[in-house]
Amino acid sequence: MVRSRVTEIAILSDQSRYSNKNTFMTAAMSASLLALQTIDKIYPNGTVALQGVDLTVGAGEFISLVGPSGCGKSTVLKLVAGLGTPTDGAIHWQCPPEQHNLAFVFQDPALMPWASVVDNIHLPLKLKGQSLRSVRAKIQAAINTVDLCGCENSYPRQLSGGMKMRVSIARALVTKPHILLMDEPFGALDEMTRSRLNSDLLHLWEEKHWTVLFVTHNIYEAVYLSTRVIVMAARPGRVVADIPIEATYPRTEAFRTSSHFNHYCREIMAALSVAESIGVG
Ligand SMILES: Nc1ncnc2c1ncn2[C@@H]1O[C@H](COP(=O)(O)OP(=O)(O)OP(=O)(O)O)[C@@H](O)[C@H]1O
Ligand SMILES: [Mg+2]
Repeated sequence: MVRSRVTEIAILSDQSRYSNKNTFMTAAMSASLLALQTIDKIYPNGTVALQGVDLTVGAGEFISLVGPSGCGKSTVLKLVAGLGTPTDGAIHWQCPPEQHNLAFVFQDPALMPWASVVDNIHLPLKLKGQSLRSVRAKIQAAINTVDLCGCENSYPRQLSGGMKMRVSIARALVTKPHILLMDEPFGALDEMTRSRLNSDLLHLWEEKHWTVLFVTHNIYEAVYLSTRVIVMAARPGRVVADIPIEATYPRTEAFRTSSHFNHYCREIMAALSVAESIGVG
């Protein structure tokens, strides 16, 4: 893959590569973090969820997976998370073990209804044996980061859908993940809230140097957020297109209304209609 800015970006140090807001990244430009190599996943009932899936994830990328229902998007995330093993093929981690630290954010914020915001965010640390007193400052920092100051003692029933999702993101944040796996996290939210959370998520991604694997059915969201969009087809689940989104960060409202943006949306829609037609029957 030859890109005019490769040389310029390759000479940046890791730190500056992430913090240079006028760059975009593709897998070719960033160090490889992990690679899925010809992955097949056949569930015990015989469903072929994935067949021959190859996917390289570069450090610091924001990759969205789009595709029809049942094409294996969630299966890809689960395999990366180690929640199940491939039937064939392998996942190769190409970074030191300390960078395998990942967090999973689901569509349903899955908060404990009987616990306050602080106690919900404390959960993953509590499971590691860390007392609330010892990590109170970390939890407060996560709450501040997702803009939930003042809601520390609220219960989930007292929060809006968008606020609950912020708690879920804060709960992922306190574990200091390198990799964030997000499975349709904003699918149930209204358009305004989704748009706001998209911007906030991008801001955090740049600040925290995360690598994100993000599942969505929303093409506009995928284009707005991603360094790359992977289009998948179903029956069996496979990758049919890998589209780098070559636009600078931070992404602005102007990007959302640009012809560049529309061009990518049309390209992904076309790949999706091919994916849907080959997945039928
Ligand atoms: N535990 C399981 N046992 C058997 N089949 C499964 C299991 N989990 C998923 N599947 C099947 O594997 C295929 C891929 O499922 P997966 O959940 O990964 O799709 P998806 O792309 O995330 O779909 P959606 O967009 O609806 O969430 C589907 O046919 C699904 O029914
Ligand atoms: Mg799914």
